[in-house]
Amino acid sequence: MADQDPLVIFTPSGKRGRVPAGTPVLDAARQLGVDLDSVCGGRGKCSKCQVAPGSGAYSKHGVTVREDALSPVNEVEARYDRIRGLKPGRRLGCQAQILGDMVIDVPAESQVHKQVVRKRAEVRDIVLSPTITLSYVEVAEPDMHHPSSDEGRLLEALREQTGLEALGLDRHLLPSLQKTLRKGKWAVTAAIHEDAGTASVVALWPDFFEGPLYGLAVDLGSTTIAGHLVRIDTGEVLASSGLMNPQIRFGEDLMSRVSYSMMNEGGAEEMTRVVREGIDTLVTELIGDAGIERSALLDATFVMNPVMHHLFLGLDPYELGQAPFALATGEAQRCLTTDLGLTIAPGTRAYVLPLIAGHVGADAAAVALSEAPHRSDDLVLVVDVGTNAEILLGDKTSVLACSSPTGPAFEGAQISAGQRAAPGAIEKVEIDPVTKDPRFRVIGVDQWSNEPGFTEAVGASGVTGICGSGIIEVIAEMRMAGIVDASGLIGSADQVGTPRCIADGRTNAYLLWEDGERRITVTNGDIRAIQMAKAALYAGARLLMDKRGVDHVDRVVLAGAFGAHISPKHAMVLGMIPDCPLEKVTSAGNAAGTGARIALLNREARQEVQTMVHQIEKIETAVEPRFQEHFVAATAMPNAADPFPILRDLVPLPDASFNAGDGGEHGGRRRRRRG
Ligand code: FES
Repeated sequence: MADQDPLVIFTPSGKRGRVPAGTPVLDAARQLGVDLDSVCGGRGKCSKCQVAPGSGAYSKHGVTVREDALSPVNEVEARYDRIRGLKPGRRLGCQAQILGDMVIDVPAESQVHKQVVRKRAEVRDIVLSPTITLSYVEVAEPDMHHPSSDEGRLLEALREQTGLEALGLDRHLLPSLQKTLRKGKWAVTAAIHEDAGTASVVALWPDFFEGPLYGLAVDLGSTTIAGHLVRIDTGEVLASSGLMNPQIRFGEDLMSRVSYSMMNEGGAEEMTRVVREGIDTLVTELIGDAGIERSALLDATFVMNPVMHHLFLGLDPYELGQAPFALATGEAQRCLTTDLGLTIAPGTRAYVLPLIAGHVGADAAAVALSEAPHRSDDLVLVVDVGTNAEILLGDKTSVLACSSPTGPAFEGAQISAGQRAAPGAIEKVEIDPVTKDPRFRVIGVDQWSNEPGFTEAVGASGVTGICGSGIIEVIAEMRMAGIVDASGLIGSADQVGTPRCIADGRTNAYLLWEDGERRITVTNGDIRAIQMAKAALYAGARLLMDKRGVDHVDRVVLAGAFGAHISPKHAMVLGMIPDCPLEKVTSAGNAAGTGARIALLNREARQEVQTMVHQIEKIETAVEPRFQEHFVAATAMPNAADPFPILRDLVPLPDASFNAGDGGEHGGRRRRRRG
């Protein structure tokens, strides 16, 4: 290349090099490895190659851009501008030729690998690198002298344009192929799926099809199925929706569904059928909400726990119901959605994320992808709280994982006034440490219960119960106010000094609210249920810390819908999570759903999660003798063995202990001991 060849500098990448005068900007970008999009292969149809040429002096780059450094606007660009409109100052990179030294900016919308910025500062952005891309090609017409098939000529044109030597064509396209080619007058747009070393045409449109294309990210939970419809060229979520998992009629929890499959001939098949129907219903709803064509929804990712995974794939979950909890497969699955009994579009691809272990599912793998403990400099504990808590502990040197059976108490089940998070449910509580009187807020109402207008705002339905985050707060507040002791016992009216502590059978209960006949109390049974759940969670985390040889973690991430609502301080007062500075406890929201979206938008992330899952050290809590020891210590609030120094510096925890005495002795003797 001659020295006098023009120097071209691309921003924002900073890539630079010399190209022969007359080189189109798109070709220069290709040669220099600059990320500049093109769907039409430089035919002036797609405008994906738009660039913003600079002018004048760039002292930083040592370049002065002359007026005539780029070829004048040609007929193709003028036509595109007339019909579709080009933004001022933009040129089509496939048409504009470099004639002199140039500085050229590639705007975000012209980059294939643009970034989707995530709102939370501590997580990395998602780089778009979808598995499905569009390619417009002109195909040679059939020729008697050179016999060849329409499929052969189409693939030849596509291979030449994309460089994908091993490109194939989905069989479902064959019946309509010849009509599509002729309708487009030998020009077509192909959607090409490229993943794990294979490439195939999955959809075809006559002539030029602008897109966009869409993908679906599904979080298949045992209670609810949540889906997000995403535009794969921008990462924008166009619609989100959820429905109850229709398998609930075969059992509320996973083990009852496994037993249903054991006890009933064809039970597993039936559950497979209904969950697939449920996803189909969800897809139809999402397509309707977003107002898109079904044929443009071409990729889907799925995350779920191991039992849901097996039932969704049509595998018998029998072995997951008993030790040693052997998975039929834990590997990532790539197939057509039609293979999974879904009716999205004939070429739509499915990617099911890999499972971590027999009890730690693809949902936890997706959380790991989203929260990336394997890239973290500091030691992070990631907890996805559900009926099973899935727990990850690690940093860039290694990651450990386990699952712990917390049961449904955190979701409001097993709690006397418990309910799902819904309008009317108590979600925040404060208790005055002196008067022992509470005030609270309910979902859907702005005022606190002791503020004017609360009763009117709550309306006729009144206060309906306590949701999961509310029960955590009220018990923690009771602990801080000295109403409940470290062992989980509620004191009597005399012991605590408030008539709100009322006798309840052989124990006491705390009266949170009453309105005429209706009362909401926190019973000792409620506290016991939360103690069991939080002890399971903490023991799992503590076990991983033992394995890692540490007694503290640098930060804690709470994932899941429940994790998004609980207050770190209250969770720590209960001893749900290890002692840690409160500002280092953050919520990740629906991290499993985010992980499914990352796998949808970035094909390299699929490889990353597969590699990570193999590297994660799996701990089976059921066979670890120390789990039980940690569990017993963790039933105390916050903990009978671990000191929680950071928490105790922040929050005064009364050390009184209430002794229930020998049954029914509500005014029992008051003893003092360290709580
Ligand atoms: S590459 Fe399609 S218009 Fe330039």
